[in-house]
Amino acid sequence: MVSRVIPVKPFDLVIFGGTGDLARRKILPGLFRRFRAGQMPAGARVIGCARTAMDDAGFRDIARAAIAEFGGPERSDAAGLAAFLDRLAYVPIDVTGEDGWRDLAALVRADVVRAFYFSVAPRLFGPIAERLHLHAIADDDSRIVVEKPFGRDLRSAQELNAALAAHFGEGQIYRIDHYLGKETVQNLMAVRFGNVLFEPLWNNHYIDHIQITVAETVGVGGRGSYYDGAGAMRDMVQNHLMQLLCLIAMEPPARFEADAVRDEKLKVIRALQPVDPQDIVFGQYSGAPGSPSYRDDVENPASTSESFVALRCRIGNWRWAGVPFYLRTGKKMKARSSEIAVVFQKLGHTIFDEDMARHRNILSIRLQPNEGIDLQVTIKDPGPGGMRLLDVPLDLTFAEALGDQGEPAADAYERLIMDVIRGDQTLFMRGDEVEAAWAWTDPVIAGREERGDRPQPYDQGSAGPDDALMLMHRDGRRWRDIKG
Ligand code: BG6
Repeated sequence: MVSRVIPVKPFDLVIFGGTGDLARRKILPGLFRRFRAGQMPAGARVIGCARTAMDDAGFRDIARAAIAEFGGPERSDAAGLAAFLDRLAYVPIDVTGEDGWRDLAALVRADVVRAFYFSVAPRLFGPIAERLHLHAIADDDSRIVVEKPFGRDLRSAQELNAALAAHFGEGQIYRIDHYLGKETVQNLMAVRFGNVLFEPLWNNHYIDHIQITVAETVGVGGRGSYYDGAGAMRDMVQNHLMQLLCLIAMEPPARFEADAVRDEKLKVIRALQPVDPQDIVFGQYSGAPGSPSYRDDVENPASTSESFVALRCRIGNWRWAGVPFYLRTGKKMKARSSEIAVVFQKLGHTIFDEDMARHRNILSIRLQPNEGIDLQVTIKDPGPGGMRLLDVPLDLTFAEALGDQGEPAADAYERLIMDVIRGDQTLFMRGDEVEAAWAWTDPVIAGREERGDRPQPYDQGSAGPDDALMLMHRDGRRWRDIKG
């Protein structure tokens, strides 16, 4: 297959929090893969910054260990790894003080693309932005990359936006939602807007409802204190599920171009109706033999934070009037499975002697694992015995369909970092989008607090609390099975 990868220019990528968890798990191994793919041109450098006093060699050791632990099969390429590590430098820095900034200013070059990755706590975004500006390390063409959580409510998100806007234009700010970097999430746009088949049916005349599920088997891991202060609503729904909802529901943008796409996403969020308290279920996983409960995991015996949410929401516009969107996400569930299912309406009239309500076309977009798309269609049950109908998937599993020609799927982070260097903001959240998402989320969280709703316990390895099943059953529908 002829590679159509868009080339990047030489760059200096500065990672604040360069020795932290995200840098070690995702950023450094991802950059090594891009390096091997020929996407770090001669002259491209990665500069780690953190508080620890250390020299370049110390940082390279950290990167080597991180790639050995979190990298893929490419980590056995010793020569490649040595060449990649040569591109790494390190500057010890005090991000809220003055130490180290002059050294960084001396190192960062003016004649290459300059990108600054804020892989640090959000309270440090403002101080770093200010110092980059003060020491003239960044200019009007530089890019900054910030991670979630981008605020914990509308007000804090506005404060963060204002702190960044004091020194950088919106066109320079890349807010990461790593779900947008996933291959199949982008495929969602390719399928919708690259085929004649779907768009004519993509509305309330043909679609009965849409389900979005992001189920995880992991618990809260070592992030208990952050997670317990956030809960699934802030950790997953406000950002990742909201982004999926936007891509599935947005109007076709005039072009596949950053602001055209983001304008359409913003309209979806703004059209979201408030969630009725009857339409939302919060859950918390219980303990199981040999496996701690949520409360044990977060070391908070009285925690009422949710590790699961299921909700029904509606988009108040012409396209989607009357079409419910069911969203659910949870930890310690029966399988790791993220899927968007577009369930089409039943036939208006049938010529067959069967209950056609049982036969539905369902377009299912599997984000992970086993990325792919399938379309459930009704066919004749093969063999003699009369005209009986059967639903089968037209399955397009990407790994099979693309065979040997497919490039190994890049991790979301490496794809997004390269987009930063290219200056393409399409897969990043704009400030107004994030604020609109919080404006919708805040009343949901506040309403729950006012009502004092406690999360429903659910068994580990299940599909969540029973009430989540009821959310669908009462509408005469059912959730798709969660299959890994
Ligand atoms: C993160 C959340 O943003 O996404 C985590 O903070 C969650 O709680 C993770 O586990 C899920 O990402 P992925 O790519 O594994 O689906």
